[in-house]
Amino acid sequence: MDISDDIVRELIEKAVDARKKAYAPYSKFLVGSAALGSDGNIYTGCNIENVSYSATNCAERTAIFNGISDGCLSFEAVAIVGARKEEKPGFCYPCGVCRQVLSEFSDAEKLKIIIAKNKSEYKITTLGELMPFAFVEY
Ligand code: THU
Repeated sequence: MDISDDIVRELIEKAVDARKKAYAPYSKFLVGSAALGSDGNIYTGCNIENVSYSATNCAERTAIFNGISDGCLSFEAVAIVGARKEEKPGFCYPCGVCRQVLSEFSDAEKLKIIIAKNKSEYKITTLGELMPFAFVEY
């Protein structure tokens, strides 16, 4: 699916808003994400940390899981905005675990990953570029 500049900006705006809800008392690195579902809806998420550290959930997975729990099993685009508290966002790429989860629920060659500092500074790549030769079947 081709996505318009307006949708890209909307996804970034929603990721910026979702970042405000981040629960990150340990790293103080706040991340927000907004995923465009194939159903046309936008699902958002923030990172949710845990005192155990390993039980932490990244913003991208929160957004995708939010969509899945609403019945949307496929996604076209995901925007990510991340930075330490009180700092301006840099370019924050999805971690390996999130890339694996994204690959389960998208066509990697088509899934657009929007890495954004703000609505006018962003890069767009695809999951296929970020994660070639993914483990997708056995
Ligand atoms: N984090 C995300 O939410 N998404 C990313 O793409 C990178 C990392 C979170 C996990 C943890 O809460 C904090 O950022 C520091 O790693």
